[in-house]
Amino acid sequence: MTTSRSAADAVPGHDPLDYVESRSPGDGRQPPRAGFVSDAAALDLDGTWQFRLAAGLHDLTPGFEAPDLAHAGWGTIAVPSCWQLDGIPGAPRHGAPAYTNQVFPFPVDPPRVPDANPTGEYRREFTLPEDWPFEDGASVLRFEGVDSCFALWLNGARLGDGKGSRLPTEFGTAGLLRPGRNVLAVRVHQWSAGSYLEDQDMWWVSGIFRSVRLLHRPSGGIDDVFVHADFDPVTGEGVLRVDAVAGPDARITVPELGLDLAPGETARVPVQPWTAETPRLYDAVIATAAERVPLRVGFRRVAVEDGLLTVNGRRILLRGVNRHEWHPETGRTLDRATMLQDIELMKRHNINAVRTSHYPPDRTFLSLCDELGLWVIDECDLETHGFHLNGWRDNPSADPAWREAYLDRMSRMVERDKNHPSVIMWSLGNESGTGDNLRAMADWTHERDPARPVHYEGDWDSGYVDVYSRMYADHDETDRIGRRAEEPTTDPELDGHRRSLPFILCEYAHAMGNGPGGLSEYQRLFEQHPRCQGGFVWEWIDHGIRQHTPDGRGFFAYGGDFGEPVHDSNFVADGLVFPDRTPSPGLVEYKKVIEPVSIAIDAASATVSVRNGQDFADTAALRWLWQIEDGGEPVADGECAFPVVPAGETVFVPWPAELRKAAGTAAGGERWLTVRAVLATDLPWAPAGHEVAWQQTLLEALPAVRAVAPGSAPVRSGRLLTLGPAEFDVRSGRLARIGEHAVEELRLDLWRAPTDNDLRGWRGSVAERWRAAGLDRLEHKVLAVEPGADGLTVRARVAAAGTDAAMAADYRWSVPEDTPDRLWLTLEVRPTGEWPFPLPRLGVRATVAPSLSTVTWFGAGPGEAYPDTRAAARVSRFRSSVAGLQTPYLFPQENGARTDVRWARLTDEAGEGLLVLGAPHFGLSVRPWTSEDLDAARHPTDLVPRDALYVNVDLAQQGIGSASCGPGVLPAHRLLPGPAVLTVGFQAVTD
Ligand code: GAL
Repeated sequence: MTTSRSAADAVPGHDPLDYVESRSPGDGRQPPRAGFVSDAAALDLDGTWQFRLAAGLHDLTPGFEAPDLAHAGWGTIAVPSCWQLDGIPGAPRHGAPAYTNQVFPFPVDPPRVPDANPTGEYRREFTLPEDWPFEDGASVLRFEGVDSCFALWLNGARLGDGKGSRLPTEFGTAGLLRPGRNVLAVRVHQWSAGSYLEDQDMWWVSGIFRSVRLLHRPSGGIDDVFVHADFDPVTGEGVLRVDAVAGPDARITVPELGLDLAPGETARVPVQPWTAETPRLYDAVIATAAERVPLRVGFRRVAVEDGLLTVNGRRILLRGVNRHEWHPETGRTLDRATMLQDIELMKRHNINAVRTSHYPPDRTFLSLCDELGLWVIDECDLETHGFHLNGWRDNPSADPAWREAYLDRMSRMVERDKNHPSVIMWSLGNESGTGDNLRAMADWTHERDPARPVHYEGDWDSGYVDVYSRMYADHDETDRIGRRAEEPTTDPELDGHRRSLPFILCEYAHAMGNGPGGLSEYQRLFEQHPRCQGGFVWEWIDHGIRQHTPDGRGFFAYGGDFGEPVHDSNFVADGLVFPDRTPSPGLVEYKKVIEPVSIAIDAASATVSVRNGQDFADTAALRWLWQIEDGGEPVADGECAFPVVPAGETVFVPWPAELRKAAGTAAGGERWLTVRAVLATDLPWAPAGHEVAWQQTLLEALPAVRAVAPGSAPVRSGRLLTLGPAEFDVRSGRLARIGEHAVEELRLDLWRAPTDNDLRGWRGSVAERWRAAGLDRLEHKVLAVEPGADGLTVRARVAAAGTDAAMAADYRWSVPEDTPDRLWLTLEVRPTGEWPFPLPRLGVRATVAPSLSTVTWFGAGPGEAYPDTRAAARVSRFRSSVAGLQTPYLFPQENGARTDVRWARLTDEAGEGLLVLGAPHFGLSVRPWTSEDLDAARHPTDLVPRDALYVNVDLAQQGIGSASCGPGVLPAHRLLPGPAVLTVGFQAVTD
């Protein structure tokens, strides 16, 4: 049975459900304090809870909190979890996840929320252990995260209510906790006044999604502790002072440093400092007779000095990512293994910084960052972006009625996380416009923790923050900011202040789908301008939700897949790792671009140099391996003996004797030297041998493969023209086969399935222009088929319906007399009429038999690469199945192109197949479906292999850019229409 809202009223004139739409952050809560684990008694309340989902406040269970309530008809749910994900990867059992970026999925009427307010009723019985120390002190119930608002009852009595989804809340249990059986009842509302402050770009999911514990608080124990562990870079001393709210006998001991201090007492001792590169921690304990709390102390000094952000007196360079908490099956509930996996993946990809976008993470994550070493910007759980769509009217940031809620959120984050050395900056939140409540948060934070700078991107004037932060500023603007020559502030009074600040891009390089492009160019600016201290790629992970098609094939759902009436589609899939944490090509590219050591090889002087781009660590952890390959086949390898290179320095060494000797032998193919930096020993985040950085240089080029002998003449028989190994149709001039292999429909191709970056664009969608021009529906009109003495020429005009713009395409086929098995095509393309946009691609497409499904190539690889995402592709010989060449972006789009290919073989199981030869290089894509299929698909499971392989051989492709949120393709990487010539050879071969 359910009851109406008024019937649930206990106190006449006061609606006990008012808290839901109250701006108040909560009632009955304990003051915020540091997150720590102690030896005091504790009871873990995670596990299976009774659960019922009510449709709204009108549908609540009467007497829901009563200890003896019968649970007839109730289900169960795991705590912690997000209730909308219960049932995933099958159908959600309670409601469904919904995705929006900025737009609130309910009418904007703060602080009111819809009547349809799904409300989870949670109940849990627990039995206290017999030795629970009732006689001493008190106990608190601690919730690490409840989304978005809740009230709770212990043994039928109300303890209070709270908001602030990604922040901890504690409630005292005075006089209510009983020996033996206890009943905890928690009511959680999906929507509340707090939802107006939590409009982050992510799935709306709800529930008790982080752990719950009952903690004993012994009298004379330790209620709060604030470790101030400064490092003096001049003397090399650590300066330790620990403030505590604790029993009078509290002592702080650091055995390794021989310290035994009272709270508030300061000690100076020589220490090794903490940095993200050298995460040195000292074990410490704060103890009273009643309680012991282990601490891990990292000594470091963060400062903004002389216009730079420094740690321990040195400028740091942030090679960062924005990390949301996400798992494709459990949503924002993560276990420790997943958090560790994130950090290991980041460290293995040279990432050194995380912005916890856009809320404080599970605090276990920060402990792991302390241990393994990452710089962290800890961001408050605050975003009011949806008000922007209403001209920022009623934005809570500027409304004093919300001040308490803002300050409450900030203090709960700072108090919880203040003892983590990895946290080097506090962020007020994200995209919450401007207003005095933000300034009040900054003021409070500066007062409470003067040792950490404050960050907030949303107020560009930067009046109350310590770093100038922006998102998605393009390369030119970043360059101007780097030179401190940016546009003035809106308030002229603030200009001098902002110009004196260091600069970071708290978001850049939007990793949606294929891309991001342009990373190398950003990195050059960060290295060139001291003021530009790096940035944080948007974002770490695609927030896809695991689902299956009716026939059991897995895919990752995005916005709209759960029937949401308002949603932002696949904009939630914009990470460097796929939802299952498989690295995407974007992460591999980022790893290369941000290498902490830069290797340069100079063949002329036979030297290698290493610049150590780290800010603190030397290179003692690395070994330097060299290898020579001819035509992609290894011919010699060895190790370079490098001296240890201090941070920031460069060292040159001559090639070792064996390398010089090997390089002096006759090359058996195009010869490349590769030097790689690998870990010399196991580190906590990667095993010995893990590659950190690499560089290649060409030692010897090969003469062009293209023969110059005269070509032979085609022979006609009936409808066929035979030219060497190839057969053509006499009338259409179409190629039909090469040797035994059908090669069909070969013709000029300008189309690619638009990427997310092609589709969206701050300055308009280039894909829309392509489609308007009909590049996806080009018609090929054959104008002439001209057999000649030295080959066959086919002239065509390629154009779309409705326009007189066209590409003249002349196909010249020849078979040189000295290589009678080899067919060459020289395609000459000439635009006529107006082509006022870059082309998606320029090349030919053909079909071959599906059996030719193994691809071997000599060229750049192993992964996909485009003009502005090719840093990570190295020249060697690679082999892959056709399936392995595809990148399964959550929203299908152009992918999988291999670049700078010298030759490629497509072979069947017997090793028979086709060789494609570049003159000198080409871009290669091979897929079991067409670009049109890719374009039409909404999920990878929509793609069904056809009875052919589609082979694209490109002269070039348009770059990728980052226009889905940020700058488009830089001029150097645009494929502008103009006369062009593609030469490529074909030959039937046996592997
Ligand atoms: C930013 C925002 C992020 C995300 C990104 C686009 O404006 O801070 O949360 O929405 O754009 O993916």
